[in-house]
This record gives sequence, structure tokens and C-alpha cells, in this order.
Amino acid sequence: MAIKKINTAVLISGRGSNLKNLIFFSKKKNSPIIIKLVISDNSRAKGLIYAKKNFIKFKVIKNKDRKIFENKIKNELLHNKIKFICLAGFMKILSKNFVNKFKNKIINIHPSLLPKYKGLNTHEKVLKNKDKFSGCTVHFVNENLDSGKIILQKKIKVLKNDNLASLKKKVLMIEHKVYPKAIIKILK
Ligand code: GRF
Repeated sequence: MAIKKINTAVLISGRGSNLKNLIFFSKKKNSPIIIKLVISDNSRAKGLIYAKKNFIKFKVIKNKDRKIFENKIKNELLHNKIKFICLAGFMKILSKNFVNKFKNKIINIHPSLLPKYKGLNTHEKVLKNKDKFSGCTVHFVNENLDSGKIILQKKIKVLKNDNLASLKKKVLMIEHKVYPKAIIKILK
């Protein structure tokens, strides 16, 4: 019997390579999610193309007032009966009020071995500090930046000849493996 997939929304702000990867994953028979909605806070987000190409409903939601912004997102999520939310390069921090409405239902991927290097420019920091390892982390989202409970983490070695471009590429490649695995881990 086919499993009932969980209605999922992906929130993006930019390139959307993780969105593309999650759409691919969601179409697999054993995937626990079906992507019903893509929300971007940026009308020029390149990633919107993947929603269009795959005939997934998408919305651009922008507002300078955080409360109004989050209310609009919340209404859209409820309207589409969304039960699970994946942040994928979404550049806004969600409030406690919003996060609590979807408790343990919002997850995010971050390009570092959290709790190391929350926020932006993680690869620059890894190189500057001559770290031996980097990687990525999938975690539950709370109201603090990149701080919720860790679901899954994957390490890679930083090689002597790695530079910003090579490190970004290597970490992104493992992000695309780890995000689906983390989803399976918590939903199956
Ligand atoms: C990824 O590195 C992700 O870990 C971080 O933002 C980047 C988004 O990339 N949160 P993309 O838009 O999915 O290509």
C-alpha cells in the first residue's frame, strides 16, 4: 500500500538547489513528503523556477512588518493544509509565536557543523580558522538563529588545497544527501 505523504511547504529566498533536490526526493515512492507549496520572501529567487517547472503552487510573500509577514505565511500554510515545513536557504528568522504554531514541524539545513558557525559566511570562517572538518546540519527550527535541536549532521574533511569555491561545492553536495535523510529520520 502506498504511504500517505505529508503535505509539505518549502520556504526559500534564493538559488533553490535544496528545493530542487527536495522536489526530486519527494517524488520517490518511499519519500514521506509531498511538496504542495513553495514560499519565497524574494520575488527574484532563482529557486522559484523549480516550483514552476514542477507545477508546484508558489507564493511570494513580503512585508517589512514581521507580524504581518508571518501571518501571511501562516494563512497560506493553513489554507494549503501544510503539516511540515522545510526551510531551504530561507533568510528570515521566524518568531517564537510562529515557530510554536508548528512545533517540531519546521526544519532547516545549515552549511556548518552546528553549533559552530551559526549565521552567514560559514565556509569563510572554516577556512580562516583552518578547521580540519566542515559539513552541514539539519535541525529543528526555533526562534533563535540556527539553534534548534540537531536531527542529522554530516562531516567532510577540509583539505589543504580547499578554497571557498571548492568547500562551498563539497558542502552543498552533502547537503543534498543529508536533507532527505533527515526528513526520513524524523517522519518515518
Ligand atoms: C545552503 O547552503 C543552505 O545550507 C543554507 O543556504 C544555502 C541555500 O542554498 N541555509 P540553496 O538556495 O538551497 O541552493
